[in-house]
Amino acid sequence: MVNILILGAASPTSQTLYKSLPRSGNHCVYCLAQTPERARPLGVISIPGDLFNNAKIQEGIEAHSINVVVGVVGALAFPLQALLAELKRLGRARLATASDAGKEITKLGFIYCSGIGVTRDSNKPDEDIFPIGLPNSRKPPAQRISWLPKFEQDVVDVSDVLAVMVMRSALVYGYAHPNWSRFFKPISKAVRSGATSVSLPAEPHSRPGLVHAIDVASGLHAAIDKLASVSRNHLYPVFDLVTSQESMRDISESAAKELGFKGKVKLVGVGDDRMAKAMCTSINGSSARARLILGWEPKKIGFVQGMDIYAKAHAASRSYQLTFLSWLLA
Ligand SMILES: NC(=O)c1ccc[n+]([C@@H]2O[C@H](COP(=O)([O-])OP(=O)(O)OC[C@H]3O[C@@H](n4cnc5c(N)ncnc54)[C@H](OP(=O)(O)O)[C@@H]3O)[C@@H](O)[C@H]2O)c1
Repeated sequence: MVNILILGAASPTSQTLYKSLPRSGNHCVYCLAQTPERARPLGVISIPGDLFNNAKIQEGIEAHSINVVVGVVGALAFPLQALLAELKRLGRARLATASDAGKEITKLGFIYCSGIGVTRDSNKPDEDIFPIGLPNSRKPPAQRISWLPKFEQDVVDVSDVLAVMVMRSALVYGYAHPNWSRFFKPISKAVRSGATSVSLPAEPHSRPGLVHAIDVASGLHAAIDKLASVSRNHLYPVFDLVTSQESMRDISESAAKELGFKGKVKLVGVGDDRMAKAMCTSINGSSARARLILGWEPKKIGFVQGMDIYAKAHAASRSYQLTFLSWLLA
């Protein structure tokens, strides 16, 4: 039995992970939750605490003999350096105790869920085999988050003490992911008001890389299962999770159609909206390594393709309209 601690209780990705890990029969799952109310619907054992409370996290890791810690919180809110220092201390102590007893053990694991938006906006084919931002990298970092390559590299650099992986998710869709409220909500409002046009914060020519929340969770699940082997074999521990590249124009127009909007959809640019800017990063990624090395098998292959369900389910779950049934189907 592998004991997993998930940091980041309530994102759609971690909620799916809470379901899939125990189902495998090989994992016991714990979560760090800021309040008991947050943890209650998750159905796993919760460790009450905040990401900034290292003492609580350390206590939880020790008390429950955690093997792998998984960070599913956006990098801006994630206190990486403090957490890595604590994990390194715990990991080093575990290795030393085993070594004193003449044994070799699997290192304490840490997996961070990052984003493929770490790289610059481009429609050129992308890869995840080489660090971003080095003088000889083929991939330049995205300017708006030029600090993220170092963040990822800091995780990779502690692989002498910890078994580490960085899983880079593409733009997430599915369930009630808050990402899409800035698109689906104005469309629903326009339907209700009978407006003849709707303006959305998107770049007309952008083509983001996408992945369903279910598949990010299955990618993290695969990462947990292959962590020890990737670490033991010194494989480059960074993997992209992406299943399609789709145009924002198609996404917006198909969502409008499915939500019953008959007017004109205008993509007016992202302005100062940082999240919209991130969502409109064009990325032509590949997850060949995740499939080959981790055995990742994504199940959902297109946002536009399933838009009849996704848009209505999102609207229903965010109570713009429609029924609970569509949420279940997404
Ligand atoms: N959104 C995307 O399209 C996208 C794209 C690429 C990668 N990712 C990755 O996917 C993961 C999830 O991102 P997200 O945007 O869906 O979720 P998020 O907004 O980053 O939040 C995830 C969870 O973190 C918890 N959290 C935040 N601050 C905390 C703190 N101080 N202490 C304890 N818990 C805290 C939140 O708990 P509460 O609900 O209790 O506040 C929330 O449940 C991240 O690792 C991100 O890098 C997302």
